[in-house]
Amino acid sequence: MAVIRKVGVVGAGQMGVGIVQVFAEAGYEVVVVGSSQSTLQKAVGAIDKRLASRVEKGTLSADQKQSIAGRIRTTTDLNDLAECDLIEESIPENLESKKELFAKLDLICKPETIFGTNTSGLSVTDMAAAVKRGDRLLGMHFHNPAPVMRLLELVRTIVTSNETIETVRAFGETLGKTVVVAPDVGGFIVTRLFTPFLLGAVRMLEEGIATKEEIDVSMRMAVNHPMGPLEVVDFIGLDTELSIAEALYEETKDPKYAPPLLLRKMVTAGWLGRKCGKGFYDYAKK
Ligand SMILES: NC(=O)c1ccc[n+]([C@@H]2O[C@H](COP(=O)([O-])OP(=O)(O)OC[C@H]3O[C@@H](n4cnc5c(N)ncnc54)[C@H](O)[C@@H]3O)[C@@H](O)[C@H]2O)c1
Repeated sequence: MAVIRKVGVVGAGQMGVGIVQVFAEAGYEVVVVGSSQSTLQKAVGAIDKRLASRVEKGTLSADQKQSIAGRIRTTTDLNDLAECDLIEESIPENLESKKELFAKLDLICKPETIFGTNTSGLSVTDMAAAVKRGDRLLGMHFHNPAPVMRLLELVRTIVTSNETIETVRAFGETLGKTVVVAPDVGGFIVTRLFTPFLLGAVRMLEEGIATKEEIDVSMRMAVNHPMGPLEVVDFIGLDTELSIAEALYEETKDPKYAPPLLLRKMVTAGWLGRKCGKGFYDYAKK
């Protein structure tokens, strides 16, 4: 079984930032590739803020905070990932972009480097087919927010080797995560099960059966979910949720995954949820 020491992350959006933090907190050297210097500055600032609040609460020492930050290196150049033992991509949910990224990394990285994708439900096999090292590519699906959520869902394709699965399972456990291994079917375990629930809430709103507040408060109070489903879609990002629904519907043709028109219209209007200040709720006012 290979040993992972140095890790890379591509994409410093809401998931990428959390994943970088998880890796650095577990003691790994992390190289993070962002699309611009400003995205990277924002990412480092977000991690600093979260760690500072733990120092204030007394759950982390100032020295520990400094060591975690010292393990993170930022860059906009993919070539800086050449020596990483494992690279996790967390760029937007688009199959062509992910395939293109892995094809580039395949040429840059040493042959032993393992590639992981944070896709919520796209075909990992298609990504494996874009590289020569298909046996060393797998899904590594973290959940939002990555530093808080305890599950790491590994996705095995028919070409992923046992050694890759076992190496990444052991690595995932060093991050303090509970690891499950799912097959490469649309949405794996978590997204496959959760998506119809979230889309159902959007449809219920669209059909005028209940208001957004009634839907969210009902699910929070009735089943003790920390957030209602429309709040969750705002948290995930409406663009990401639409891409997930489209990919699942494309693969299964099951109407429970068909993206509701309201979701599509909101994405077209640029209402992407919390990350842009407006989704089902207005965050600029809060
Ligand atoms: N949002 C969630 O709740 C959630 C949960 C689990 C998994 N995911 C998955 O994680 C992935 C990322 O989602 P997100 O919510 O962080 O999206 P996001 O839009 O917040 O972040 C994506 C980031 O990638 C950057 N990027 C795009 N192309 C790039 C490239 N070629 N090189 C470097 N950076 C690039 C963008 O500038 C952006 O900063 C998606 O595959 C998504 O399905 C999301």
